[in-house]
Amino acid sequence: MLLRVLLLSSLPSILAVNFPFEEVQLTDADISSNSDVQFGGNNSEAAIEGCKYIPGDDEWPTEAEWARLNDTLGGALLKPKPLASVCYAGPDYDARKCSTLQRTWTSAALHANDPISIMSQWPSGHSCVPTSNPNSTCTQGGWPVYVVNATTVRHIQAGVNFARNRNIRLVIKNSGHDFSGRSIGGHSLSIWVHNLKDFAYHPTYTASNYTGRAVSYAGGYQAQDAQVEMARHNMTFIVAGGPTVGIAGGFLQSGGHSGYTSFYGMAADRVLSLQAVTADGRLVTASADENEDLFWAFRGGGAGTYGIITSVVVQAFPNLPRASGSIQFSTVASGNTPGVDVETFWRGVQANWAYGPAICSEGGLGYNFIRHTPSGNGTSGYTFQTSISLNNRTAPQYRTFIRPLLLELRALGIPVPLPSNLTIRSTLSPSPPPFSPPSLTPRTPSDTTTNTLIASRLFQLSNHAPGAPLTAMSNSIRHLVETSGGAYEFHGMHYSPTLAAAGHPSNAVHPAFRTTIMHAQAYRPDEWWDGTSPVGTWDARTQRHERLQRYLQTWRDITPGSGSYMNEGDITGEPDPVGAFYGGEERYERLRGVKRRWDPRGVFWTVRGVGSEGWEVRGEDEEGEDGGLGVRRQDGRLCLKGAD
Ligand SMILES: Cc1cc2nc3c(=O)[nH]c(=O)nc-3n(C[C@H](O)[C@H](O)[C@H](O)COP(=O)(O)OP(=O)(O)OC[C@H]3O[C@@H](n4cnc5c(N)ncnc54)[C@H](O)[C@@H]3O)c2cc1C
Ligand SMILES: *[C@@H]1O[C@H](CO)[C@@H](O)[C@H](O)[C@H]1NC(C)=O
Ligand SMILES: *[C@@H]1O[C@H](CO)[C@@H](O)[C@H](O)[C@H]1NC(C)=O
Ligand SMILES: *[C@@H]1O[C@H](CO)[C@@H](O)[C@H](O)[C@H]1NC(C)=O
Ligand SMILES: *[C@@H]1O[C@H](CO)[C@@H](O)[C@H](O)[C@H]1NC(C)=O
Ligand SMILES: *[C@@H]1O[C@H](CO)[C@@H](O)[C@H](O)[C@H]1NC(C)=O
Ligand SMILES: *[C@@H]1O[C@H](CO)[C@@H](O)[C@H](O)[C@H]1NC(C)=O
Ligand SMILES: *[C@@H]1O[C@H](CO)[C@@H](O)[C@H](O)[C@H]1NC(C)=O
Ligand SMILES: *[C@@H]1O[C@H](CO)[C@@H](O)[C@H](O)[C@H]1NC(C)=O
Ligand SMILES: *[C@@H]1O[C@H](CO)[C@@H](O)[C@H](O)[C@H]1NC(C)=O
Repeated sequence: MLLRVLLLSSLPSILAVNFPFEEVQLTDADISSNSDVQFGGNNSEAAIEGCKYIPGDDEWPTEAEWARLNDTLGGALLKPKPLASVCYAGPDYDARKCSTLQRTWTSAALHANDPISIMSQWPSGHSCVPTSNPNSTCTQGGWPVYVVNATTVRHIQAGVNFARNRNIRLVIKNSGHDFSGRSIGGHSLSIWVHNLKDFAYHPTYTASNYTGRAVSYAGGYQAQDAQVEMARHNMTFIVAGGPTVGIAGGFLQSGGHSGYTSFYGMAADRVLSLQAVTADGRLVTASADENEDLFWAFRGGGAGTYGIITSVVVQAFPNLPRASGSIQFSTVASGNTPGVDVETFWRGVQANWAYGPAICSEGGLGYNFIRHTPSGNGTSGYTFQTSISLNNRTAPQYRTFIRPLLLELRALGIPVPLPSNLTIRSTLSPSPPPFSPPSLTPRTPSDTTTNTLIASRLFQLSNHAPGAPLTAMSNSIRHLVETSGGAYEFHGMHYSPTLAAAGHPSNAVHPAFRTTIMHAQAYRPDEWWDGTSPVGTWDARTQRHERLQRYLQTWRDITPGSGSYMNEGDITGEPDPVGAFYGGEERYERLRGVKRRWDPRGVFWTVRGVGSEGWEVRGEDEEGEDGGLGVRRQDGRLCLKGAD
């Protein structure tokens, strides 16, 4: 600690950074020995035309130039093969490693700790999978070619400058949880921020308009790292449910929901300042006092778009008790519990939806699933499961709160416990959220997912009004579950990050969050995957995708003007991405203004990111193009639209 203080104070700096690794920056000496890494000027007039360069182009850097970049980076440049290359005949082939990979493929840590791998892999183009047929071919596909293993700001600056100056596609990878391939890109240089891990707790932190507890943490910090510090310092802050999710990356920049969403708002709502390397390669601070436009956009305006976050300062809170309990019923008998008939089942589900506003106004979370359940005689039924948790409530208070719901379900003939009998778990937060980690892969229980097809919609308070609106909402969910024949599962989260709960922030979080009562998801885990290989053709996948979108349309029809959570939405298929992910034209234009000001040359690009509409990833086939509801793959060349 003493060393750190001395180190910080002995270095001249205009910028107040959070951590020593941010003091380590690119120097004039670095630039004079490698002109490829010079900083960007304000050359917004010299807009890039055409395509990013790819291997094989004359303009692609030579081996010697990559080696020189590696020198500038002090050896931190990697050229990783896809994980599954060990399953293919050739120099990397290793039968034992391959069979281990096949067994552990759905482990989150496997992909989170790898320089390039991600969890939902379809955007890679499936160019290298843990196959059982070593005679097939493994190519780099949508995976990056080179990776900067960043542990200092200097590494990030060198990588950003090199990619910009040499017109190469740049991507950012953190934990690799993104469902839509936004942390990979074919023919790219990737900045891997996973190893940026510092943390500090500030019992009393003072910013221009905030005094109180705060924490700072580095760009690669994950929820599981945070849980350790929360326990150590007896405090809490907003992190994701999945333990390996990065909490300064996609989570925080696109919103970030948690067990506190109705209580403190979203992760983006509680940010006090952040440090980021922008497209010109400079490290900047964004806060309420500095670079406010950037600060506004970073908090909710989408990840991988405005710069590379190296650290953040966020509000922290006292450790409060949390009470939670679970309710479950099914059309299928289980043990001594009889199944209920289908109509009764859906009446029970609707009673639960009707309770959503009460859960939200108590500052709670209702975390529910509807899943297909085999009945054991060849047919299948449905099971409803919810875990409802309340912050800062004791077990007796919780019992009083949950009583009317349990009594109503029992009156419908549904075998749920008497209020006096419900098991209530009372914990001091930071306790893991209910069903932790979020079991998006019930068939393979782990904090990961392979090839997930997912879509989301924010049902509003108005959808929960008793009578026709509530029935319409309930029916639209029933339609998905019943007519998809088990293809899609339902996952709802009753939460409400109102402006009041969030502390009245002014940020780019989608305004529909402020009036939502339930974030609803339709998803299909392990879609297109048999354990070692993708199943079916790209055409078949496109059709399944279109089918998901038809279900979503019934949700959109009854939620006009609402939105979708970008991180868990159908980035590719959403017909109105500006409205669904960004809150409409006016807000999108404001975000575009920030993007133009800070990244006029399009150094940062992600699917459906702000400003992405000017570009396209070109592939062997055109499925990924705008216009179709296709599967947007990342294994092509990134080009400005209309370029030759
Ligand atoms: C199992 C699981 C559980 C989840 N649980 C939750 C949850 O509880 N709450 C919730 O809100 N969401 C949750 N999510 C969704 C999650 O928030 C998103 O997948 C998010 O994009 C992950 O961000 P990441 O940075 O860890 O992942 P990555 O896939 O590595 O990155 C995602 C995006 O962020 C960009 N990015 C990453 N780091 C940086 C950085 N330092 N600077 C700039 N851009 C960066 C990347 O370029 C990419 O565009 C969950 C997802 C899964 C699969
Ligand atoms: C670049 O110059 C333009 C035109 O003068 C200006 O509007 C813009 O803010 C500048 N951008 C940066 C990052 O300084
Ligand atoms: C970069 O340099 C280090 C250290 O010399 C070396 O181990 C690594 O393989 C190099 N990276 C590449 C891509 O050549
Ligand atoms: C792979 O090819 C070799 C040589 O042609 C052949 O002997 C082997 O059976 C093939 N393996 C598989 C799994 O197809
Ligand atoms: C990345 O860098 C860190 C710190 O130097 C090192 O411990 C780690 O092994 C590197 N990762 C890879 C895959 O090279
Ligand atoms: C942790 O914080 C809570 C709330 O401030 C307090 O009630 C509790 O006593 C603290 N526990 C410890 C071990 O300090
Ligand atoms: C199968 O089980 C379900 C639920 O337990 C029951 O409703 C149904 O009648 C059974 N069907 C047959 C064919 O036995
Ligand atoms: C938690 O509950 C206590 C007792 O009701 C109350 O005094 C306190 O303000 C609450 N804390 C928060 C953060 O709401
Ligand atoms: C209440 O719990 C007791 C003890 O577990 C159990 O015997 C009893 O059947 C339960 N009653 C109801 C109605 O749930
Ligand atoms: C501080 O000011 C900024 C910018 O005006 C605002 O976004 C933020 O919500 C304020 N924070 C608090 C805690 O009031």
